[in-house]
This record gives sequence, C-alpha cells and structure tokens, in this order.
Amino acid sequence: MVPGLLAGKQVVITAGPTYEPIDPVRFIGNRSSGKMGFAIAQAAKEAGAKVTIIAGPVQLATPTTVRRINVETTEEMALAVEDSLDACDIFISCAAVSDYRPIQVQQEKIKKNSEQSIQIELEPTIDIVSTVTNRHNKPSFVVGFAAETQNLTEYAKSKLARKKLDMIAANLVGENQGFAVDDNALHIIWTDGEQTLPLMPKTQLARELMTLIIKRFYAKNSI
Ligand code: PMT
Repeated sequence: MVPGLLAGKQVVITAGPTYEPIDPVRFIGNRSSGKMGFAIAQAAKEAGAKVTIIAGPVQLATPTTVRRINVETTEEMALAVEDSLDACDIFISCAAVSDYRPIQVQQEKIKKNSEQSIQIELEPTIDIVSTVTNRHNKPSFVVGFAAETQNLTEYAKSKLARKKLDMIAANLVGENQGFAVDDNALHIIWTDGEQTLPLMPKTQLARELMTLIIKRFYAKNSI
C-alpha cells in the first residue's frame, strides 16, 4: 500500500461486538474480539487517513493517533457513528452488531428457579450501516462486512444490495474461524467486481483490503 494515498481523508470504522443487557449482570453478545476492525484502523492510518474507531467492549490497544470511542450497546454505537460522520469520506462497518436485544431489561438480577424455564423476548436493533447509507449526507464510500456460516457469496451479495453498500467483505465464521482468531480470509465484492483474499494474518489482510477500498473509492469519486 502506498502511504499518503488517504492524506486529508477521514475514515470511520466500527469494531468489536455490541452487548445488549438482559439484567444488571447478563447480556447478549458475540465472540468478536475487535482484531479485524483494529487492524483496518491501523491500515487506514498507514495510508495517511484521519481515523476514528468506534469500539464495542474489546481488550485491544488503540493504534497511535487513532481516535477511539468506546461503546457497549448497539444504540450507543449508532449514536457514536451519527456523531462521527461529519466530513467522513469512508465508513467501514466491521463491528459484529447484535441483531436483537431484549424488549425489557430487568432492573434486578433475574433469580434462578430450577423448576422453571424462562423466555426473553427480543426485538431487532437498529441497522447501523443501513442508517449510514440512507443518510442524505452519506460518506462517499461505505464498506460493510458479512459474517456467514454458509452460502457466503450469495448472502453477501444480497447484503451488498439490501444495505446499499459500495463494497462488502465477506468471511466465513464458526469454530476457530473469523471471530477472535489472528488469521482470516475475505471474499470482497463490489458493484462490478469481486476478489478473494486468502487466509493470512488480519494485520496483513487489513492492508490488502484497504488497498482495494482506496482503489474503488477513487474510481467512484474521480468522475
Ligand atoms: O472482531 P474479530 O474477532 O477480529 O472478528 C472479525 C469479524 C468476524 C467480526 C468481522 O470480520 C466481521 O465479519 N464483521 C461483521 C460481523 C457482522 O455482524 O456481520 P453481519 O453479516 O451480521 O452484518 C452485516 C453488516 O451489517 C456488517 O457490516 C455489520 O457491521 C452491519 N450491521 C449489522 C447489524 C446491525 N444491527 N447493524 C449493522 O450495522
């Protein structure tokens, strides 16, 4: 990647999981470690961009000069994204956002009753990346991710269209795959092309992804 290609550009990235509280001590979450998103932040910084990372609960050091906003819930992430979009050129939605949240959050810890099962009713959360692409004043280039356990390309293409993305980075997830591990592979799809990036360290993968994003960003915005 050529350093300086994103000089003067602003990149906003979401990373890590979101947690949706059930009661004061329990939550619905997922296995995202934030490694992929933080590697992308590092790669965007190396390309010369001014970078903001909006991070769910993860235990990772912030790359130097990257602005970090910590959040926990999907609603907090959505608000932080909204507040960070002024002058954003490229938005990258790498966070594993919780798709559902409990309709009612219990104020006290739910007591165990061995005799009874319990039900927790869930409602869909706001779709953050779709909110971004539906804005009147949206970033020039929006990248989403697709985490799938099957039909990777088919589901990713459908998310690319449904969420009105410029590009989608699709990865297979499961046991020791995608989430939390150090290596990953991506199938990148954009409106008129696609490319596979084979299994490699997330730090290197992020640089290769960023090279593709920069190419497509300038192809779209130089007209
Ligand atoms: O963090 P790591 O341990 O390194 O793992 C990396 C990763 C596997 C989490 C990452 O590579 C990845 O796939 N991130 C996206 C996970 C995900 O939520 O995918 P999805 O297919 O469910 O969502 C599709 C897109 O919509 C994503 O860009 C997601 O950020 C976005 N989304 C989803 C739900 C929601 N309510 N709002 C959103 O913005």
